[in-house]
Amino acid sequence: MKNGRATFGSRLSAILVAAGSAVGLGNIWRFPYVAGENGGGAFLLIYIGCILLLGLPVLLAEFAIGRNSRRNSVGAYKSIAEKSKGWSIIGYNSVAASFLILGFYFVVSGWTLEYFITSVTGDIAEYTSSTINAERFDAFMLHPVRPIIYTLIFVLLTHTVIVMGVQKGIERSAKMLMPLLFIILIVLSIRSITLPDGIEGLKFFFRPDFSKVTAGTFLDALGQAFFSLSISLGCMITYASYFKDDTDLRTTALNVTLLDSVVAVLAGTVIFPAVFSAGIAPAAGPSLVFITLPSIFNTMSLGAVWSAIFFLLLVLAALTSTISLHEVLTAYVHEEWHLSRKNAARAATLATALLACVASLSLGIWREYTICGSTLFDALDLLTANIMLPLGGLFTSLFVGWKMNGTVLHDEITNRGKLKFGMYRAFVILLRYVCPLLLLMIFLYNSGLFSL
Ligand code: PFF
Repeated sequence: MKNGRATFGSRLSAILVAAGSAVGLGNIWRFPYVAGENGGGAFLLIYIGCILLLGLPVLLAEFAIGRNSRRNSVGAYKSIAEKSKGWSIIGYNSVAASFLILGFYFVVSGWTLEYFITSVTGDIAEYTSSTINAERFDAFMLHPVRPIIYTLIFVLLTHTVIVMGVQKGIERSAKMLMPLLFIILIVLSIRSITLPDGIEGLKFFFRPDFSKVTAGTFLDALGQAFFSLSISLGCMITYASYFKDDTDLRTTALNVTLLDSVVAVLAGTVIFPAVFSAGIAPAAGPSLVFITLPSIFNTMSLGAVWSAIFFLLLVLAALTSTISLHEVLTAYVHEEWHLSRKNAARAATLATALLACVASLSLGIWREYTICGSTLFDALDLLTANIMLPLGGLFTSLFVGWKMNGTVLHDEITNRGKLKFGMYRAFVILLRYVCPLLLLMIFLYNSGLFSL
């Protein structure tokens, strides 16, 4: 405990918990197909550049804000900005974005759970071709209750971890689930690469095809990097508020970034060899996981087992991320509205469950009701990814680069001078000029106000 506030037990816990937030559906489900569509190895190189130049500095900045203030993401800006209360709007943006993201993230997480159960019961054997799978997936979404039940089970799982508390719930679950996730990922990667023609998939994934790279590829890579590292949305601020005073923020940020990138690359080595081995077109878009992959598993011996392991991986990755998004809301309601932690968690669970149910129905029986031509599900994704996330990142970098007291920032990152940070000047320059400029471009590009 620190000033009556819980802290994570060890430095390793800090890394595992933050990596748990970062590693999610974005790495395993989204990264491989975005890379596949954007020139494979070429995208990977650009992505690594974005992570190092922009992701890492913003992640470190959020860690500094969180640990320095030891408050939720709204309270953190209020306390650091002191008299200029306007900055706390960044915190409100992050709480609102976490709520809206949970609205669709819970739904997709529910699907991963459904596919896991279908694999365990062996019913996945009926998913024999992409056409049949597409029909089954559509029928599942159109079912009035099934997708909602899975979504709600996922909400309850998340709620259970959150009410168990910062140490017994969040920290303990990350310490159990993250190593398991890595083991599963490595086993699946070996299985996939050793399939006939698996190496062809690897070549496709790693071979840089620069002809597919456009200016938009850079912005896609940057958006993916921010979503994947869980930055701009208050998660890392909230988690860092539970770090110990002697946690090294520099190495924690570096390790989290490394783990997150390794998982994204490993996910590609699971998906592409399997896809090539089955002779399917690689750039199959978002349906890759729920439509293409089940039929591939069915061509393998022990297909249901591999399928169950793969979807368990997705469930674990999704769960550690939904926990972090939920904690942003719980910590905010608990500390700013002065409710007990349990009641704060209940309020966050009820509100997100309601939003997720409506988002799920918006893909099913309510699909004809749209907002500006998009279903609620798509609208939540578009609004958060295109507007709230880049704006959050933009103002976070401006805040740390220009507003936060330089001595306080330096002290926080160096643990009051105990650690060396030779890159401090470069870090500040990136936050002051480079990150805001690029994030502004992403925002203008995504909102259609600027084109390349
Ligand atoms: N980083 C998670 C992923 O890659 O799936 C998703 C996520 C979690 C985004 C938490 C944002 C966040 F605040």
